[in-house]
Amino acid sequence: MKRIAILVSGRGSNFEAIARCIREGRLEAQIAMLLSNRADAAALKTAASFGLPHHCLPSQGVATDDWARQAVELLAPLNVDLICLAGFMRRVGQPLLDAYPGRILNIHPSLLPAFPGLEVQQQALDYGVKFSGCTVHFVDSGLDTGPIVAQAMVPVLDNDTARTLAARILVEEHRIYPQAIALVLSGKYRVEGRRVLAG
Ligand code: GRF
Repeated sequence: MKRIAILVSGRGSNFEAIARCIREGRLEAQIAMLLSNRADAAALKTAASFGLPHHCLPSQGVATDDWARQAVELLAPLNVDLICLAGFMRRVGQPLLDAYPGRILNIHPSLLPAFPGLEVQQQALDYGVKFSGCTVHFVDSGLDTGPIVAQAMVPVLDNDTARTLAARILVEEHRIYPQAIALVLSGKYRVEGRRVLAG
């Protein structure tokens, strides 16, 4: 059974969607650790209620690479095959990238390369796009720049606010993240340049 670690900073609805898929037999994987960089992350409580291993490694006042080194140390004995960022609001840091090359995924609430970074839905509204969506991508040292594994599109409606658009996108996030994880864990893909191709 492949083992994953999920890194979060807050609500953890993507984590919950992944955990539910596993519990319902729709994703073959084991959550070896839910790791939060914030003690107040709701995801920690959800992990406890699911009976899943969880831990907080506070990052406030800790340099990115120092935090990453601590995370690598914590995760090493767990033998995880894949790290999934799910609302992890920090850069991962080089020590994690070096320890898990090509084995860290992130979900981002826009159709990358449009609107990387923060305040993503507001960026989409301000730009005036008619469609937005979400992207699952491999994590590299850039900001939301790694090869794209999966995307889903949603319409932007005239009366949308950042909140209503985020809610529509989130439904798609919960659908495609477990699918993308399944693909990557299956190993049935290859990366050619920036392209992630089946097979
Ligand atoms: C999601 O919109 C995700 O795309 C972004 O942060 C949000 C996290 O939500 N990276 P949740 O914590 O999974 O509910």
